[in-house]
Amino acid sequence: LASIEFDVTKVPEGQQVVVKWRGKPLFVRNRTKAEIAKAVADDGASMKDPEKDSARVKPGKSQWLIVGGNCTHLGCVPTFGGGEYGGWFCPCHGSVYDTSGRIRKGPAPKNLVVPEYAFLSDTKVKIG
Ligand code: FES
Repeated sequence: LASIEFDVTKVPEGQQVVVKWRGKPLFVRNRTKAEIAKAVADDGASMKDPEKDSARVKPGKSQWLIVGGNCTHLGCVPTFGGGEYGGWFCPCHGSVYDTSGRIRKGPAPKNLVVPEYAFLSDTKVKIG
């Protein structure tokens, strides 16, 4: 119940799959090189919850971004690819997240949460 295993090959490049984990949505996103580059380029930007992109992914696996699928404002599920940073857009009150899931605009106070997880192989990840 506490942890799940997920085959990341189910997620095409440039897409995300929403997995249910502990009763809540979790986004598993396969980022394009451009999306990763954009996130890294913004590491030094002024942010509400500053965090480097590299601190939000596993070393050597930066295409895989795994984050909680609930807006850190009041918990709505943000829309994939929306908002001017190409990450997610929360339709409830307009929070904008970047391709690292970091909050860039709007009322949400925190970045999308990175859960505890580990790669068991190149294709299999254990979440929780
Ligand atoms: Fe997402 Fe309010 S719940 S902006």
